[in-house]
Order: sequence, then structure tokens, then C-alpha cells
Amino acid sequence: MDNSELRPVSLARRRTLPEYVAGSKGGPWYTSHTYPTKVPPETIVPFIEASTEVGGTVLDPFCGSGMTGVAVALSGRSGVLSDLSPGAVHLARNHTRRVATDAIAHAVDRFDRSWMRAFERDLYLSSVIDENGDRVEGLARHTVWSEIYACPKCRAESNLWAITEAHAGPLPRRIDCEACGAPFDRTHQRPLRSEPANLAIKPSGGGKLLHGKPSAAAIERISALQRRRLRHWIPDHTIDPSREMYIRSALHLRGVRTVKDMFDKRPALALSRLWHEIQTIDDAPVRESFEFAFTNTAWHSSRMRRYNAKGGQRPLTGTLFIPQLVSEPNVFEVFRNQLRQVSRLYEVLPDSDVSVRQSSATDLSWIPDGSIDYVFTDPPFGNNIHYADCNLVWESWLGEPGDNDAEIVVNKSRSVHQGGKTVSDYQRLLTEAFTECRRVVCPTGRVSIVFHNSDDAVWSALLDAVENAGLHQAEVSIMDKGQRSQKGYKARQGELVPFYDLVMTFTPDRQRFERLNGAGNIALDAVTAHLNRLDSGRNTTKRNLDYLYSVAVGEVIRSGQRPTGLSLRAFEQLCNDNLERVDNEFFVPGA
Ligand SMILES: C[S@@+](CC[C@H](N)C(=O)[O-])C[C@H]1O[C@@H](n2cnc3c(N)ncnc32)[C@H](O)[C@@H]1O
Repeated sequence: MDNSELRPVSLARRRTLPEYVAGSKGGPWYTSHTYPTKVPPETIVPFIEASTEVGGTVLDPFCGSGMTGVAVALSGRSGVLSDLSPGAVHLARNHTRRVATDAIAHAVDRFDRSWMRAFERDLYLSSVIDENGDRVEGLARHTVWSEIYACPKCRAESNLWAITEAHAGPLPRRIDCEACGAPFDRTHQRPLRSEPANLAIKPSGGGKLLHGKPSAAAIERISALQRRRLRHWIPDHTIDPSREMYIRSALHLRGVRTVKDMFDKRPALALSRLWHEIQTIDDAPVRESFEFAFTNTAWHSSRMRRYNAKGGQRPLTGTLFIPQLVSEPNVFEVFRNQLRQVSRLYEVLPDSDVSVRQSSATDLSWIPDGSIDYVFTDPPFGNNIHYADCNLVWESWLGEPGDNDAEIVVNKSRSVHQGGKTVSDYQRLLTEAFTECRRVVCPTGRVSIVFHNSDDAVWSALLDAVENAGLHQAEVSIMDKGQRSQKGYKARQGELVPFYDLVMTFTPDRQRFERLNGAGNIALDAVTAHLNRLDSGRNTTKRNLDYLYSVAVGEVIRSGQRPTGLSLRAFEQLCNDNLERVDNEFFVPGA
């Protein structure tokens, strides 16, 4: 949709909202690309249907991966999505517009025949020693890299994979040196290096996936690849301690200085070639769908991909954590699988009218007043997730990464003068964003905000921001996003994490104004008449709140009424809602 088409034609409705909604991670919109805290679209649809007519316009100014846009498409409405992060914009765009799946299949086939199968063999042909001691050849599905430590006491080397294999159950943080028996905390050691410790291969002769120790030839091949030069571009944006997630993920212990360091050599060789080839595709929608599959492949192929003995190898979302046992995948296999997931999405996604734009939620000046029927949004949750940091690993392939200075978040790792943000900065920025939501939503519309937090200070910041923006609470619903793994991870880190989210729905009605029982009307008329009598210039105390308050109360009393409900706070809200404010001076709009 072109924003110039946005007009205040209200298709807003206020039907009863659901008390409880639950979603799952199974839908094709869920599996097509990872993003922290995705909201399942099937949980958003009932809110949209209760708040708009078919054809109505829904806004999400913190759209993330664009799940509100998918819900908009599923319910036959129009959507306006925006986010600060270029990576989120890329996902929201690709999640909400279809590409012909036969064109995608055709292009993969062309890639396979012209270069991808041959390059895959070049990088991933491997061999393992099976249980009979025989060498079996095949394409590596994944390679487990183990960190090697020097004992702080005797300097003997310990291989984490060997210790894990010999240990029943989860490995404790403190382990004993195999040589001298001295205990040390493995999580605080700077590793000497990483080594390939275990392989899973698809045997060339057919048969089941085979796990085993890499053969000497396989190790020799992998070390030859370490010496190979990268022939294509790979992002090298700096990641340093100015990023909260650098500190929280202890990346200094993993030798990370740039995005490039988040990838081992073989994935770097594979990804840089793949990205290069994708840029040669002429058909723009197909190229973009490949880029969409690529960014998730890059995330899955980073050093963050955790070995999990129970299967389901993947990085943890919402962090930049590099595990001690990394499961390096076959990049091309991940990519083909991603393209299948993307095609699955495009087979079921209805055609829709959803526009996506990169923008801070604090400035939606590109959306006309009163032109939106319904806002459904899921703002950042205090200091839980630093999207700009977490997206960096895959977003930087698309160009310049997001502006983390403008991110609405609580950032404790930097001092305020270095760009750190306190809870009150978070509240101020949210107030600006919600004020914009209130401005653009039509008078009969609604604003629904998804939120959860374990910190009461963050809750207060959110609710104060809503109130200061002039939104009024109407209803609260409970949402189960079905994301046990993400919350489970945080809980394991010692954080008490609320499982359910709340969907709080507010209205932009001028309720305070109505509660003034007529005093508000008198006050506003008196103040407007007073301001119209002044010169248009600034810097006069006669435009200040205190002065205007006296004018207002004086006129209410003069007219024989009581100033009931006309507290200075309520009066300020009345002025904010109806007049233009420049610092502490008020003006009649349009005068
Ligand atoms: C909780 S997530 C939204 C997830 C989304 N509901 C989904 O389903 O994927 C919050 C989003 O707010 C974005 N964000 C943070 N600060 C912002 C700002 N100033 N303006 C716009 N978006 C911002 C982050 O990039 C992140 O994508």
C-alpha cells in the first residue's frame, strides 16, 4: 500500500475481544525464518477481526518479523508495518508477499546444476570411522567442533567432547583436569583452539546418517580448508563491548571482533559464495526469496549453533552466545531446506495489501492522523532482548546494520553518556511511540499492546508511557505464544520468566475530558479564546501551562461551575490532547 492512500476512512469496530488466545510454532510462518519473540499470527487474527471490518487498516510499528502482517493477510485487511531494524523489515516484507514457488524451484535447480552441488562436494566430502573401524565416505551433514583447554595448573590439554562423551548426564561447569586432577571452571577459560571431534555424514553409497570420529583424511581436508582464501565478500562490521550482547555472551573469550568472526572458515567459504551467486539472479522476487532463505541459513551456520545430544541443533535465539561444542552444519543443505520452508509459506499465504517500511516508532510522521483503524503491536520488553545486537549476525549481510542508538531498550552495559539507556529513557521513548499510535488511530479505533516482563519497574514504565500518550485501558487478554524453549533458556540462566504474555487493549477516547463533566469544555474554550487573543510569537508566560490553568479554573468558576476533575494533571492532558505544545508553551492548532 502507498502511504498517500491512507485516509481517515474508519473501518474500526469494537467487538468483544478474546479472553485467551494460544498459538503454536508449527505454522509455515514460524518455520520460514527465526526471530526472537515472534507472535503466532493465528493469535493475532481474533484481535484484528474484533477491531476492524474487512478492508480496514492495521498498523504494527514494532513489526519484527512481520507476524502482524501475516495475520492481516489471513484476515483480509490491509497492513502498515514498520521497524527500526533493516533485518526485521527484510523479514516482514518476505513474510507478507508471495513469490511463485515454481520459479523458486527452478532457480534452486539451476544453482545445483551450475555450481552448488560441485562446490558442496568440494567443501563437505568427508569420511568417518564406523563402529567396525572402517572408513565410510559421504557428505558431511554436521561437524561437531570441540574446544580444547589448557589446565590452569599443569597446562595439560583437555578436549571437551572427550570429557562430555565419558560423562553421564549434563556436564558440570567445573571439570577436573584429566592429567593432574585439578578442578577448573570451563566456562571462564579462553580456549586454546577448536577441533573437529565428531561428524554426521550421509554415506555416498546410501543408507542412514552415520555419526563417528572424523577420519585422518577428513581432518586433513578440513585443515586444508582453513588455509583457503575467501574469494567473495563477507560482512565485517565490528562487534565490540559497546554492545550489551557482546558482554552478556562473553564474546571476548571467543576471539570475536567482527561479524566475520562469528563464522568458522568452511561456513564462511560457503556463505560468501552463496551470497555472491544470489546477487546474480535477475528476477527480483526470486532473488529476494533466496536472500530470505539465506539470512536464516547464515544464522544457522554461525558459531552459535549449539550441539545438542538430543538432536535439534540450532543457535539460541535472543543472544549471541557461542557454545563450547559447536555443531557446524552443511550450509547448502540448510539453505535448500530453508527454501522448502519458504515455499511452504508461499503456498498458503493469501495475497494481501501490506506495506513495510524502516522507521523508528517514535516518528510515524509518514502516516496521516486518524488513518489507522487498529494498532496491534509488540514493543521491546525492557532489557530482555537487544534486537539490534542479536540480528547483527544475519542482518549485516543485507548492508548497514540497524541503529542501536535509537533502539527502545534498557541498556545497562554502557554509561548514559556513551549511549546507555535507563528505564526512564525506555519510558520516554515508548511514550513517544505510543503518542504516535494514538495520533494515527481513528477515534473509534483500538491500540493493542503485547507485553510481558518480570520486572515491576519495566511494567510501570510501559503503563506510564501508555497513560502519558493519552491511551485508556479497556481490556486485557492472555496470550500463549507457545515459545517454551526461548523462555526456558532464560529461566535456565537464573531469570524468573513469566510464561504468558498479556495483550492490553487501549482506546484513544478522550475519557478524561468526558469525566470533567463540562468543566473540560469550558476550560478548553476559555484557553482557546485566550490563546487566540495573544500575538503569534513565542516566549510568553501567558502560553505556559500554569498560566493557562489559572485562566481555565477562573472561567469555570466564573460560569458558576465547580472545577471537579480539573486537576493540573488532567488539565495538562486536556491541553496535550487538543493544543500544540512546543516545550512548555501551547498554541491553537492551525492558528
Ligand atoms: C518484541 S519485537 C517484535 C516481534 C514481532 N511481534 C514478531 O512477531 O516478530 C520488538 C521489535 O521492536 C523493534 N524496535 C526496537 N526499537 C525500535 C524503535 N525505536 N522503532 C521501531 N522498532 C523498534 C525491534 O527491532 C524488534 O523487532
